[in-house]
Amino acid sequence: MIFKMNILNNIESIRKEFPILNTTVNGNKLIYLDNAATSQTPNCVIESISSYYKNLNSNIHRGVHTLSQIATEKYEDTRKKFSNHFNARSSSEIIFTSGTTHSINLVSSGFTNFLDDKDEIIVSQLEHHSNIVPWQMLCEKTGAKMKVIPMNDKGELDLNAFSNLLSDKTKIVFVNHVSNALGTVNNIQEIIEKSHQVGAAVLIDGAQAVPHFKVDVRKLDVDFYVCSAHKFCGPTGVGILYGKKEWLEKLPAYQGGGEMIDEVTFEKTTYSELPNKFEAGTPNIAGVIASGIALDYINTIGLENIKEYEDYLLNYATEKLLEIDGMKIYGESKNKTSVISFNIGSIHPYDIGSLIDNLGIAVRTGHHCAQPIMDFFKIPGTIRISFCFYNTTEEIDTLINALKKASTMLS
Ligand code: ALA
Repeated sequence: MIFKMNILNNIESIRKEFPILNTTVNGNKLIYLDNAATSQTPNCVIESISSYYKNLNSNIHRGVHTLSQIATEKYEDTRKKFSNHFNARSSSEIIFTSGTTHSINLVSSGFTNFLDDKDEIIVSQLEHHSNIVPWQMLCEKTGAKMKVIPMNDKGELDLNAFSNLLSDKTKIVFVNHVSNALGTVNNIQEIIEKSHQVGAAVLIDGAQAVPHFKVDVRKLDVDFYVCSAHKFCGPTGVGILYGKKEWLEKLPAYQGGGEMIDEVTFEKTTYSELPNKFEAGTPNIAGVIASGIALDYINTIGLENIKEYEDYLLNYATEKLLEIDGMKIYGESKNKTSVISFNIGSIHPYDIGSLIDNLGIAVRTGHHCAQPIMDFFKIPGTIRISFCFYNTTEEIDTLINALKKASTMLS
């Protein structure tokens, strides 16, 4: 309760940091409940991007000139920030990418070198398409087989079934830390430990976890952990890939180009050391630096405070939603983040989403890039609301009234 009070007591000043929360949509004040798709951006992050282009714009690692040197320093300091935040052994274990999808593709494509048609890889039924499709492409190239950890009606993974899938043929296991569609928090510690017992590597998609609680890659002993800045108040177009040094050294370079080389001749090119080996070309410099500012921002609010407050919003909203006739919530794990997926009777989610959008309420509808989850529940999609620490119970009340009206109109 102490944690929750910290955000509750400061909610108005926190909201003031997000200019978009004052905008109107279709003549109504925006109520933004699509934070699992992208969180909003506080002033400090917007100012960081603007200030970079006003005062510092230059290319990094290349110039002898002052601007380039300062930009390089800020970019590399940001790498250290993420390394410290995730408790990596060294900042060279942090690679900047364009997002979680890019990070997963970087790792999966590298595994082409390590697999053949006798090998197996393991995914879960709870994944976003970005943690399925790149690995299917890997299977097509190598002949490796993909096995799937099943889930139960609550949207939780069956870890006994997982144990039965593991064998010495398993080369890599890739699951999300938190499901984007249902909010389930998976027991990744157990998944990592069991995978390591058979010598398999583990990649965790942390896109929906990092905004909500602290992640310690060393404690988890995870091999790869990936996330995106836009989910934790940073800009779009920046991903963070943590990889254990021994794995990043073993993985082949993903893209060729400037910056990732040591020496180039027409006969042979040698590659840079980590992390540059995986950062070909000019990166999103302003975006990376601003992502570090976003990380500082959420750490200033405090991830414990964020978790406590978001759990309070989750419980409040779940109770209110269940008062609506015909309400069916998908994803009932006890261990969830602030994501609620639901349908009302047989009303199409898109119809409800469009009606409440007219009232300025932003939610996501559809399959949430997780069609296997929708197939499991035998539904085309859901309405999904997802909270950030700047949402309020008043916004939830407005949503509930809007849903009641929409369901009456559409029934
Ligand atoms: N993966 C993002 C979502 O769940 C886009 O909405």
